[in-house]
Amino acid sequence: PPLEEQLNMDDFARTAEQVLSPKAWAYYSSASDDLLTKTHNNTAYRQILLRPRIFKDVREVDTRTIVCSTPIAFPVFVAPAAMARLAHPSGEAGIAEACGREGVLQCVSNNASLKPEQIMAGRVSGAQPAWFQLYVQEDRRKSEALLKRVDVLGFTAVVLTLDAPTPGKREADERVKNAGNTTSATSGEGVQGKGEGGGLGKALFAGTTPSLTWEDVKWLRKHTKLPIILKGLQTHEDAAMAARKEMLELGVTGIILSNHGGRAADTAPPPVYVLMEIRKYAPEVFDKLEVYVDGGIRRGTDAVKALCLGAKAVGIGRSALFGLSGYGVDGVRRVLTILREEIETTMRLLGVYSVGELGLRHINTRALDGL
Ligand code: FNR
Repeated sequence: PPLEEQLNMDDFARTAEQVLSPKAWAYYSSASDDLLTKTHNNTAYRQILLRPRIFKDVREVDTRTIVCSTPIAFPVFVAPAAMARLAHPSGEAGIAEACGREGVLQCVSNNASLKPEQIMAGRVSGAQPAWFQLYVQEDRRKSEALLKRVDVLGFTAVVLTLDAPTPGKREADERVKNAGNTTSATSGEGVQGKGEGGGLGKALFAGTTPSLTWEDVKWLRKHTKLPIILKGLQTHEDAAMAARKEMLELGVTGIILSNHGGRAADTAPPPVYVLMEIRKYAPEVFDKLEVYVDGGIRRGTDAVKALCLGAKAVGIGRSALFGLSGYGVDGVRRVLTILREEIETTMRLLGVYSVGELGLRHINTRALDGL
């Protein structure tokens, strides 16, 4: 269908299912076990209600914000996702261009299908910021060499993913029999998928170490000058651990509450629950770290609710890939534009002028209060 007929994230998902190869669709859409967390990530937002206020002059609303010292046009970033070239030949470089044109941040995956150099070359300008997501390899020297390249390429933060020391059991991915070899691979370096029918997800995780501990943040600090963001936190205890003085001194500036889009532990909580438990048991975290969330963001209302609960910005994973599918750069731009407009509309309807104003008074979380 023509791009202008795509009106929301679900439209893009349906189109992607039609235009992608079965292997690509299985890899992108799949999640662990019974897909309970994948679904719950989104339905949790729908249990929260908005509390719109009247008599506010909302001709002008300002969606701009600052994340990790970077000004962005609205509080959305593209989450790291592997293998964007399965969607479109422009791959992650196309996503970089779309993010530049729409004024948001891209987090580039360690398992991107292009090299970081090629992706950064897709940016609209050399000053366009981007984050780099790292999976630490069993052979640490490989990750150290990659971090050296990242440091000089203009990346503005390193995101360390921690929710997937091992991939979840993604059956849709495993069922696609031709999911074996692939020419695109880890940081565009040509790692070959292994195991016929074993699934692309599993193949991509080969070489990733399952042994990381809090001590390894020191190792990371030794090998990068950039701010560190920890991704994949799923409890208030770990959020509090990340906000310890020791971690702040090592340059941890943010955390992404994420369950990998339901692709890691199935029945892990949606990020909304984690935001709520941090508010209850470790509220100091919001003063010490920037808290971001990803997983299940399908509507501007979802994003606004996360912000009301204390998130600085929200990530989109699959929606960016689905925008890229069939439509390339323009599709990703439209995905971002739709989200920006939905966020703006929600702010107007709430009677809010700026994202900094959004708070608990704009939502009703009663359905989740027994958590
Ligand atoms: C991911 N995700 C991911 N995360 C990460 O840290 N490194 C990676 O390489 C990948 N790769 C990846 C591939 C695909 C196809 C998907 C769908 C996801 C997880 C991603 O960053 C994010 O947490 C989720 O995608 C967010 O959920 P939604 O927006 O897809 O619901």
